[in-house]
Amino acid sequence: MHDQVDVKLGDRSYSIHIGTDLLKTAGDFILPLLRRKKVAVITDNNIASLHLDDLKQSLTSLDVDISVLSLPPGESTKSWQYIEKTVEWLLAEHIERDDVIIALGGGVIGDLVGFAASILRRGVRFVQIPTSLLAQVDSSVGGKTGINSPHGKNLIGAFYQPQMVLADISLLNTLSSRDFLAGYGEVMKYGLLGDYDFFEWLEENALDMAEGNTEKRIYAVKRSCEMKANIVANDEKEKGQRALLNLGHTFCHALETATGLSDRLLHGEGVGIGCALAFETSMRLGLCPQETPSRVRAHLTKMGMKVSLSDIPGNLPNSDQLIKHMKQDKKAIDGKINFIMAKDIGNAFVLPDIDLNIVRNVLNDALI
Ligand code: GLY
Repeated sequence: MHDQVDVKLGDRSYSIHIGTDLLKTAGDFILPLLRRKKVAVITDNNIASLHLDDLKQSLTSLDVDISVLSLPPGESTKSWQYIEKTVEWLLAEHIERDDVIIALGGGVIGDLVGFAASILRRGVRFVQIPTSLLAQVDSSVGGKTGINSPHGKNLIGAFYQPQMVLADISLLNTLSSRDFLAGYGEVMKYGLLGDYDFFEWLEENALDMAEGNTEKRIYAVKRSCEMKANIVANDEKEKGQRALLNLGHTFCHALETATGLSDRLLHGEGVGIGCALAFETSMRLGLCPQETPSRVRAHLTKMGMKVSLSDIPGNLPNSDQLIKHMKQDKKAIDGKINFIMAKDIGNAFVLPDIDLNIVRNVLNDALI
């Protein structure tokens, strides 16, 4: 089974291949991109033990020479320290302008390697092989690359598109249920922001997906990638429509900061809670029907996901502090935050200059 979604960006266009057992045949996809039979693979230690052999096997069976750098897993790898290590390693491996770098891993590896590729010799081509659901439906697509700073998440980076994305659905079988569901937070987001029918489909089918139904996983990843590809094709550098992909993210980023980017709250869990809070805020602003926020919360509950702030273990700061964190968002302009609000499921829009008293009330109620 193999599907394809194209990201149409002129001479920077590329395809996302979605299917089962793609890693085992990755060499067939990658070989046509190579000027010489040599690639550099960057991965993390967890992913290396699970998936590196299949990739190696596939490339070496085609006589492609492969060198591997394996980094520690976790968000702290998205740092100056590891970007330096990666770029210096690539230079030591004599990776040239016309070579191809492969990012094998989740969002951390994809973002770090994409950024390394963007600055190495002023830009070397790279291929994303995302291994988590979150990376398959979001971070590997659309060219946002970068690392974190002590000042905040993703503050250093570049828009730099990959040459290809290989989303192997079989790799999702090795995810813990918590990681799968965290990725699902981003899948659900696509229905909520722009496709009512997809959200309705998810209400019916997402539990099967979580339990391992391959066809449903392929469909959900494909639909998510189609939506992201369309948005990115219209607004690559986030001057407008791309901001819709941040539905739930302003709340999420504040919660991630408040929980110290720890495993108290995974990013996709924060997106799920953030979407519920965004719909609640929209309703209180009179923008969306009364019953819509409870439908969003009911879906999160059905999936066994975190629904509200009280589901995050440990103490959280008060609403004023959370709003302060929101103002640190890199998309804030003059301290004003652009919130993504919704008129209904499948109909999100950007609301500049929101009434923060309403946001404060929503947070206070959710903190109880
Ligand atoms: N993850 C949001 C974006 O790619 O724009």
